[in-house]
Amino acid sequence: MRKLESRSFRFDGDKIWILDQKLLPQEKQWIDVTDPAAMVLAIQKLQVRGAPLIGVAAAVCLARQVEKGLPEKDFRKTAELLREARPTAVNLMVAIDRLLQFADRKFNMRQIVEATERIFSEDVELCEKIARNGEELVADGDGILTHCNTGGLATAGVGTAIGIIQRAQQNGKKIHVYVDETRPLLQGGRLTAWEMKELNIPHTLICDNMAAIMMREGRVQKVIVGCDRIALNGDFANKVGTYGLAILAHYHKIPFYVAGPYTTIDPNCQSGAEIPIEERKPEEVRGVSGAFGEALWAPVECPVRNPAFDVTPADLVSAWILDKQVLYPEDIKSGGLLACMPL
Ligand code: MRU
Repeated sequence: MRKLESRSFRFDGDKIWILDQKLLPQEKQWIDVTDPAAMVLAIQKLQVRGAPLIGVAAAVCLARQVEKGLPEKDFRKTAELLREARPTAVNLMVAIDRLLQFADRKFNMRQIVEATERIFSEDVELCEKIARNGEELVADGDGILTHCNTGGLATAGVGTAIGIIQRAQQNGKKIHVYVDETRPLLQGGRLTAWEMKELNIPHTLICDNMAAIMMREGRVQKVIVGCDRIALNGDFANKVGTYGLAILAHYHKIPFYVAGPYTTIDPNCQSGAEIPIEERKPEEVRGVSGAFGEALWAPVECPVRNPAFDVTPADLVSAWILDKQVLYPEDIKSGGLLACMPL
């Protein structure tokens, strides 16, 4: 397999490395996740995360095993192990399924490697197209609120929502980004704020519960978020808190955009009700742990709910920014999402 490199993912011709996203922004540490068990754990612990990137990373891991002589009889088992690492982001299943077509009769190392190289380079291209399409919706002077992390850390390319933001700035638009810190795991505060600084994009970090007041004060002209799975009726799953933001944007009459590649569309989900939502450990809500240390702020046994994602209904979405085109509610109603998938 050829060498591969993105902001937080690397294949050096021998080993697979990820920039440990649990440690950012305090520490920049690359860890070896060549072994499938290590990759599964890294995906589950969110050391590598973001819908598109977990698909790419898992596919590269599987292809590398094949290159290293994984027997044909173990291919499907290893693929399933990686495919089941997390349940909500469909990109993971889409990427692994693309390689599973080589199981059994069609097992061919060269073809598996080539398909994996395409998965990586395609993700880079899809991000570019999303950035180009979405940038046109951003106006000079916009305040843009975003949630979670959707940039170069979450994809093989420039990202989805953050890719759009970056392209708007590159095209000379003066923008200001309001970064939701994104409880409970703080992908906004730890990762998006870090990426904004790296990209030199003016930004302000807010706690999730401050979004309403930013909107009321007239600081937010657009909300742009990423997604983990889009159902055919336009409902979509994204990091928990997105649904609340969509309601707030609706109340304040602020356009609410969701950005993602076609690999995030699930043709098997008719509506958001069919999207599986990952429930994570209660410890994540009772406190934090990371490069910054550990803190517990709730009683150790305190009952907790911790859905990692929520579903935003299509009727709260102003537009879906995809790699092929921007879809509006009337497009969604006439089957536009299916038409954005390759034949
Ligand atoms: O749990 P995470 O950090 O993997 O969740 C990621 C998100 O919800 C992102 O917003 C989404 O995957 C879009 S990434 C381009």
